Amino acid sequence: MASENADGTYSPSEEYRKRTYIDSYAKYEEMYRKSIEEPEEFWTEQAENLDWYSKGWKKVFDWNKKASTFTWFKGGKLNACYNCLDRHVEGGLKNTAALIFEADEPGNSRVYTYGLLLSEVEKFANVLKSKGVKKGDRVAVYLPMIPELAITVLACARIGAVHSVVFSGFSTDSLFNRVQDSDSKVLVTCDGSYRGGKTLDMKGKVNEMLERETSVDSVIVVKHTGKDVVMEDGRDFWWHEEMSKADLKCPCEQMDAEDPFFILYTSGSTGKPKGVLHTVGGYMLGVTITFKYAFDYRPGETHWCTADLGWITGHSYVLYGPLSNGATTLMFEGVPNYPDNGRFWEIVENWKVDIFYTAPTAIRMMRKSGDEWVRKHDVSSLKVLGSVGEPIDSSVWKWYYEVVGNGRCPIADTYWQTETGSHIILPLPGAWNQKPGSAMKPFFGIEPVILNEDKTPTPVGQDGRLCIKKPWPSCARTLWGDHEKYKETYWNPYPGYYFSGDGARQDSDGDIWITGRVDDVISVAGHRIGAAEVEAALIAHPAVSEAAVVPIPDEMKGEAIYGFVTLKNGFEDSEELRNDLVKQVRNEVGPIATPKTIQIAEELPKTRSGKIVRRMLRKIASGSDFRSMDASTLVDPGVLDDLVKGRR
Ligand code: WT7
Repeated sequence: MASENADGTYSPSEEYRKRTYIDSYAKYEEMYRKSIEEPEEFWTEQAENLDWYSKGWKKVFDWNKKASTFTWFKGGKLNACYNCLDRHVEGGLKNTAALIFEADEPGNSRVYTYGLLLSEVEKFANVLKSKGVKKGDRVAVYLPMIPELAITVLACARIGAVHSVVFSGFSTDSLFNRVQDSDSKVLVTCDGSYRGGKTLDMKGKVNEMLERETSVDSVIVVKHTGKDVVMEDGRDFWWHEEMSKADLKCPCEQMDAEDPFFILYTSGSTGKPKGVLHTVGGYMLGVTITFKYAFDYRPGETHWCTADLGWITGHSYVLYGPLSNGATTLMFEGVPNYPDNGRFWEIVENWKVDIFYTAPTAIRMMRKSGDEWVRKHDVSSLKVLGSVGEPIDSSVWKWYYEVVGNGRCPIADTYWQTETGSHIILPLPGAWNQKPGSAMKPFFGIEPVILNEDKTPTPVGQDGRLCIKKPWPSCARTLWGDHEKYKETYWNPYPGYYFSGDGARQDSDGDIWITGRVDDVISVAGHRIGAAEVEAALIAHPAVSEAAVVPIPDEMKGEAIYGFVTLKNGFEDSEELRNDLVKQVRNEVGPIATPKTIQIAEELPKTRSGKIVRRMLRKIASGSDFRSMDASTLVDPGVLDDLVKGRR
């Protein structure tokens, strides 16, 4: 078992070095330097990892800084579904497992070979066409982690329709906002879902949404739980009935590299979720090569990323990255602690998983449940581990490394975002010694810069804001229907740079440490929740006058939501009201945004211009010393004492 070096780092084992593609820092540096100094040559070479109908691009990269628009490989033609399926079927993987589906209930699994997955996708692409879906049309997808979700998005990719997956845990309102914003005509959903042995209704939520006027004409419904649902004639269609009528063959649409690929909504600092838009060529190139290098994927290996396809991690590393590489990808419907705390490790043992990729929140949960749950199972098939979604604390890193990886498996602590499409900062697992808790080095083509608020570079060791010089291929191109907002959020704050919204620092070895969001985004169990979205839900309650929500540290979830609320005249603080407000947020945003605490206050701290001072509320909510803060900008510094007294 490899152990800690004197300087606190961990070296990849000799055994691992044989598996890795980039086996030394020098090799990384050579490739990295080329990616920065000769980007056009570098990316043209990397584009060979994809199959193109035409490499007819005039320019590899074109950037209009003023407009915050850029293109990669414009004029090149390809299809993402072809790259994920057809080319592997043609290349000899027809009878190789593409997708392993592990259901919520143990023992219920299904395996799709590349050949079978392709034929299901072709049929479903024809079903979409029969509902009038054409290239460029948006299709909303509201499904749990079942194979039909993968089939739907790949079918969209095949015919050039733009998929917009909405996380199945979102509420009716969140679904409504996303469907309307993307103007989706077709919605794919199911009767219900399973989670930890419980059945959850989905079609009911869809029906409730469709009571309102929406853009949706047709709904395709997967029969999954078999529970009775209300279907509306002429609007709702059963998946299995449509599939049995569908033609078997459907050609791939030849897409321009810069054609829209998919929209994925994420939370920002305003109440309205942002529709992050990715394009076909750059995104596919990013996920294809990061999957290969971050995990050193070798043909024949089984990859399991525990993320839901409702988030970018699911898009990039359950689906597009692994399938583009011809890997076997595992899709899990359930939860880590059902039927017992050993479920993850039982799955690893049963399917002999080689690459395991999860989030620190899940690792903390596993650690808390005890080492014996891991030890009960043979997890010796694991070769490399991954972490994503939030900074991983070094003690959690060590547990993951020692107990799960048994000291053999390097950990790729991959830093990236919905907007970056693929990993941008990470320790390449076989190339150098790893530092627990640090995301370490930039991926190819990424030039990170840490800046002060005044836009000057931050000295080594000091916290600043993480920015990236120049766009890279898998960087989001715009926000759906709101390019101004895109410019304003990502390119205007630090002109000439992409602004990540995260804080970071660089140590004396040049390694990067991510310190967390610097905007009003809260990271609950690695999921981004916009403070403004929760506030909007609270303010919609008849008793609420004003609301401000802030993150507080949480042992399991990393951060939890703490809400301060002032009431309208005639309403009084009570436990019932506070519970009602929590319920309100669950209904309007979804259970993931459930506030941990609601504090009813007389007043909120405000500046003379009326702005609520959230940084003070953060301190008060987390019980830290707020007196060190400069309260002179407040209209009434006295409100702080009342807030501290009322803390829950
Ligand atoms: C935010 C992006 C794409 C990853 C899944 C979440 C945080 C992500 C790390 C990491 C520290 C991380 C950042 C980022 N984050 N990975 N390895 N170390 N922080 O995607 O919902 O777009 O959230 O997650 O704060 O901005 P997302």
